[in-house]
Amino acid sequence: MSDQIESVLAESRAFPPSDEFRAAARIADPAEYERLHRESIEDPETFWGRVAGELPWLRPFEAVLDWSGAPFARWFTGGQINASHVCLDQHAQGERADKTALVWEGEPGDRRTFTYRELHLEVQRFANVLKARGIGKGDRVAIYMPMIPEAAMAMLACARIGAIHSVVFGGFSSTSLEDRIADGDCCAVITADGGWRRGSVLPLKPAVDEAVANQPGVRTVLCVRRTGQDVAWNTERDVWLHEALEGVADECAPEPMDAEDVLFLLYTSGSTGKPKGIVHTTGGYLVSAYLSTQTVFDLREDDVYWCTADVGWITGHSYIVYGPLANGATMVMYEGAPNAPHEGRFWEICEAHGVTIFYTAPTAIRAFMKWGDEHVEKHDLSKLRLLGTVGEPINPAAWMWYRDKVGGGRCPIVDTWWQTETGSIMLTPLPGVSATKPGSATRPFFGVDAAILDEEGNELPQGKGGLLALRRPWPSMLRGIWGDEQRFRDTYWSRWPAADPPLYFPGDGARTDEDGDFWILGRVDDVLNVSGHRLSTMEIESALVSHDQVVEAAVVPRPDDLTGEAIVAFVIPAQGADDAATLAGALGEHVATEIGKLARPAEVRVTPRLPKTRSGKIMRRLLRAIASGEEITQDTTTLEDPTILDELRANGGH
Ligand code: PRX
Repeated sequence: MSDQIESVLAESRAFPPSDEFRAAARIADPAEYERLHRESIEDPETFWGRVAGELPWLRPFEAVLDWSGAPFARWFTGGQINASHVCLDQHAQGERADKTALVWEGEPGDRRTFTYRELHLEVQRFANVLKARGIGKGDRVAIYMPMIPEAAMAMLACARIGAIHSVVFGGFSSTSLEDRIADGDCCAVITADGGWRRGSVLPLKPAVDEAVANQPGVRTVLCVRRTGQDVAWNTERDVWLHEALEGVADECAPEPMDAEDVLFLLYTSGSTGKPKGIVHTTGGYLVSAYLSTQTVFDLREDDVYWCTADVGWITGHSYIVYGPLANGATMVMYEGAPNAPHEGRFWEICEAHGVTIFYTAPTAIRAFMKWGDEHVEKHDLSKLRLLGTVGEPINPAAWMWYRDKVGGGRCPIVDTWWQTETGSIMLTPLPGVSATKPGSATRPFFGVDAAILDEEGNELPQGKGGLLALRRPWPSMLRGIWGDEQRFRDTYWSRWPAADPPLYFPGDGARTDEDGDFWILGRVDDVLNVSGHRLSTMEIESALVSHDQVVEAAVVPRPDDLTGEAIVAFVIPAQGADDAATLAGALGEHVATEIGKLARPAEVRVTPRLPKTRSGKIMRRLLRAIASGEEITQDTTTLEDPTILDELRANGGH
């Protein structure tokens, strides 16, 4: 059987940057881009040495890269740096002192703004509170917060004193939080009483209380008062931030950190097993976050940048906190849901704050489409000049909608492919030079050597789908899985055992097109195998959602005697769609026409909702079990709404 993934989606639209965009872009000359990219691959020491030199080091580095201990890379060895110093001091003590660093909006409509000088002060005071609680260099601190300024301050305060932060998304359950606290052996938790979500209080402190009840290593729970409801209190352990801040000193010198000292842990789930604590270190991570924010988003001094992610995800780390602040940008942060109190909230925020760069996820874009154009059209979005997307493959229909309705047809879209593990953007257009294509993350970023390989490690020709591989180390690469070296080697570095040095396997399938642009085909665990043809779930889903009666679709395999695997499609119908049986029949025809009979689903299940992780990813492994009529034995703690499982089981197929 072939180990190539067949690509069946034909997308030929391409959008080169407009002359107007190019005129002011940081990188607008294709020859210059080619030269820089070549240098980043052929002479990474010079390229990364120069970029790193733009950051304020506390002690200069001696060597750029040491890959002799592969798969453990060491970047910028000998150098000392501090992430909060990079993000704050250089601006607060320079020309950006009175520039707005952060504009925050709460869900109820309250607003707070911080200049670089103010944010610098807040973080130093916060850091002194941590120190007073005996927290120091190398200690692990869990952060479980709503999207309020203190979430970013907590991260920066940890970084300032050299404590390792482990941010746990505020939507996770107390069990998930406890697992992560225990795995990281955290000595403190920073949280809030609660946060606002869709008009009500999402309580956080009670979940922390449960999570730490059996974790005696946690000696401090530092709590921000946000929502004001009553919370239980353990006077030995619990401290209100506002009380602890009274009388602390305004100054806290940044702890000099070796480039390879750990900056943070961030847990990510695999398809099996317990969550992995992905380890990121300080110097290389900052260099990659800095350069990618600057070049991918074409950042300028007067931009107002908004990334809608939560700080609980890697996108929130690299593209809300570290990347934008390292560049001295002005960024927007929003606490609540995109449809609270109405479905135009994001566009209202864009208009109110004059957002120029907007970065969000395909799942959000599909929700906006569903809610209707009128919510977008009501607002003046003329300041927007660049759009971005991240998190999953974006279907071309959503991409075109984003471009036309949100971007007014004038904003380039950067579809950025990367992972928690990569720390920063790996495949992406550069908006001043790349012709963007709906659904393609286009090219490897600077220093990224990406290839499509078969199982044996042979590079596949253009147009063939296969396994995505990264062949060289990059500064923000993960340095391990916390406490589990073997799992690190097995998960990421063992797909091609003969390779020396080892190649990184991100777990995604991809293909290149005739221009050399990359198209991500989804996780290889999600690949279908029908009659010996490996098909990408993403492409079939994209065909399904291109039908005007379908809002969202997920496709999974079910064992089949004849074809190996048969395709089961779960679809959310549009309002006013035909009855389930008629729709199922129509969709079978539609997919057969769009892609070919091979991809026609054997079964279509019409459902009002799909199981999603709290970050909005469809949990195909659960759908797979349901489609095959199996017991669900997998971990369902990351599911946004567990009641959905019964609902899905109850819906028979057509
Ligand atoms: O499968 C890819 C998908 O999301 C995975 C990484 O997930 P996570 O670590 O949660 O990080 C998400 C934010 C960086 C990848 O292995 N993915 C991410 N971005 C894209 C994508 N798939 C297609 N296109 C993208 N732009």
